[in-house]
Amino acid sequence: MSALTGRRPVVLVGFMGAGKSTIGRLLAERLAVGFVDTDNEIVNRTGRSIPEIFDAEGEAGFRRIECDVVTDLLSSRGGVIALGGGSATQQPIRDALAGHTVVYLEIDADDGFARVEHSDRPLLAGPEPAARYRDLLAERRPSYEQVATITVAGGQPAREVVVAVLAALRREADNPSRSQD
Ligand code: S3P
Repeated sequence: MSALTGRRPVVLVGFMGAGKSTIGRLLAERLAVGFVDTDNEIVNRTGRSIPEIFDAEGEAGFRRIECDVVTDLLSSRGGVIALGGGSATQQPIRDALAGHTVVYLEIDADDGFARVEHSDRPLLAGPEPAARYRDLLAERRPSYEQVATITVAGGQPAREVVVAVLAALRREADNPSRSQD
């Protein structure tokens, strides 16, 4: 029973702008399995947008909802699951990721920020968003590295990232130790 069959999930982690949703969708297509983006699931379950949740309940309120939704999905879904960029900072989520195939999509600060600078990410809503992005990425990196079983460079064109992830998944299925690409 491997993550390649879709019965055990392939989980994508990484910072905002790493391409988790785009790569997750393409990867799920290639594997012919289901795809869920945990932020979309949060929006569906609460009936509110992510900025609305941050406005009403602050980051702490968002993290509580995120923790419930992500741990629920990790224990109940196969296919491909893309986590929000802050999920791996939460210990209960890190605990729930143990034993899963976790792909860390790495992105550097310039490439990642260029992808999200015109979005409505609440954590980048204040002054100096580029500096905030760079600092948060540096702070988060150890959490992504801690949970990852596979690390892939996310800054390449999407189709190349997907090919790299598929190759790493095959290697992991053949030899279940950590791999890099
Ligand atoms: C967050 C990342 C966002 C979303 C929320 C908080 C973060 O998801 O969950 O705005 O803390 O990094 P993406 O990584 O999909 O942008």
